[in-house]
Amino acid sequence: MATAQNEMRCAELRRDPASPVDSAAAATGHAIPALRASGLKVRYRNGAVGIEDVSLTVNPGQIVALFGPNGAGKTTTVRAISGFLRTEGTKIVNGRVEIFGKDVTAAEPHETYAAGVATVPERRKVFSSLTVDDNLVALGALPGRGQRKAAYDRVYDLFPILAERRGQLAGRLSGGQQQMLAIARSLMRQPRVLIIDEMTLGLHHSLHEPLFVAVRQIAAQGPSVVIVDESTGFALKVADYCYLLGAGQVRDSGPAEKFRNNDLLAVGYVEGD
Ligand SMILES: Nc1ncnc2c1ncn2[C@@H]1O[C@H](COP(=O)(O)OP(=O)(O)OP(=O)(O)O)[C@@H](O)[C@H]1O
Ligand SMILES: [Mg+2]
Repeated sequence: MATAQNEMRCAELRRDPASPVDSAAAATGHAIPALRASGLKVRYRNGAVGIEDVSLTVNPGQIVALFGPNGAGKTTTVRAISGFLRTEGTKIVNGRVEIFGKDVTAAEPHETYAAGVATVPERRKVFSSLTVDDNLVALGALPGRGQRKAAYDRVYDLFPILAERRGQLAGRLSGGQQQMLAIARSLMRQPRVLIIDEMTLGLHHSLHEPLFVAVRQIAAQGPSVVIVDESTGFALKVADYCYLLGAGQVRDSGPAEKFRNNDLLAVGYVEGD
């Protein structure tokens, strides 16, 4: 029974390589990427180079995975896109970030958020002393009751376990449930691009697959998803496209199936557990 369930879930995880989004884009000639970063170079305030030269493209509805060893520049790339680097005085020295064609290179986090980018940062930050329900609106309640209810319904459909615990304090949830809550919160305003940094970090292996199944469901509803994760087996199953970063540069990229039979660990693109 458990095996049958697992097989079903793995089948759910697998993406059709010729994704409907790609076919639709080809058919309509619609070529505006959801996210495009070109030639990004970031220097931290202390002079350290965070990334040297990172370019990546994420098409509407696509799931893109970013891999690389510690210090490769994955988080720096994510924070350059979301605008959070700028809040601490770190500069994008070169390059450009566009969301659906809109230049957000110099934008503040609330501006990239308004453009449709939602980020789930490393080490899921939930508000421990607020209930699950209150966490979902802690970053700004949606105007209008109807809208708020629809948003709650959407995220609770995705994570039914959170619906069961909606009145509980977030600090009492397990690590996996806190990660679900962090993802759910970022979905409340229906972002067009969801970026999740180290989604499974520190979580028991048995919790990885349900989170990737959720990523798959999220992308099926429209948003593009960028995932940074060391659980490369599952990430490669859900992703359409991958970028391998090393020393602040894109070392390789391509459709996920190109990497499915590669041992990313052996070639040094990811760290061991
Ligand atoms: N706040 C900071 N100040 C100075 N240098 C930083 C800062 N954050 C990151 N760096 C440097 O930038 C480079 C890229 O780091 P980054 O955190 O983006 O890598 P990463 O790929 O996310 O690594 P990890 O797998 O450990 O999360 C590293 O050389 C790192 O030391
Ligand atoms: Mg990181």
